[in-house]
Amino acid sequence: MMTDILLCPAAPVDIPAILELNRLAFGGNAEAELVEALLADPAAAPLVNLVLFQGDVLRGHVLLSRGWLDGVADGPALSWLAPLAVHPERQGRGLGQALTHAASAMAAEMDQSLIFLMGHPGFYPKCGYVPAAPHGFTTPHPLPIEAQPAWMVRELQKGALSHWSGRVRAAAALEWPELWGG
Ligand SMILES: CC(C)(COP(=O)(O)OP(=O)(O)OC[C@H]1O[C@@H](n2cnc3c(N)ncnc32)[C@H](O)[C@@H]1OP(=O)(O)O)[C@@H](O)C(=O)NCCC(=O)NCCS
Repeated sequence: MMTDILLCPAAPVDIPAILELNRLAFGGNAEAELVEALLADPAAAPLVNLVLFQGDVLRGHVLLSRGWLDGVADGPALSWLAPLAVHPERQGRGLGQALTHAASAMAAEMDQSLIFLMGHPGFYPKCGYVPAAPHGFTTPHPLPIEAQPAWMVRELQKGALSHWSGRVRAAAALEWPELWGG
């Protein structure tokens, strides 16, 4: 049950707990390093850095950073969602959906048109995401056919999905070849 929940922008003092939460949720250091790299990169311009507390304990975190369409001047305002983490002992209780919806609402308030991500095809459709490839959007690096369902988008401004298409780019840390099996 979702009791005693607080969703708010992360404060600098939350950073160590955010990194530890990402290590726990993903079982490794890669996503914590990704968070550190994105927060340190002015080009990533993190738009949403949101934490979820239960009581005074950090249980969830999500980051949205800046994306763009390759070679498109005056393109739409794009966000890239990564990473999203919920504490392993609190998963499956709606916290991930609460964070994802709150991040979308904040991005919409910031006049973002589209949010892209690579993620679990069983989870994100619950939060309004649809496969991105059928709408003509491709990833920064080529994606094997079996990974295509993980490439998803959410439309925030009506018409943006049908109006735009192309190769989506992201901050350097999200384009590291290691993340893409390079
Ligand atoms: C993925 C994650 C963020 C989901 O958050 P959560 O709080 O556990 O999810 P919620 O309780 O809001 O939603 C649960 C629903 O999503 C589905 N879901 C959750 N994680 C899933 C996964 N990895 N694959 C497929 N479906 C998943 C559940 O089956 C459940 O569906 P139901 O409501 O029909 O039973 C969380 O499990 C997590 O942090 N996992 C480890 C890190 C990770 O994989 N992050 C996301 C990277 S894309």
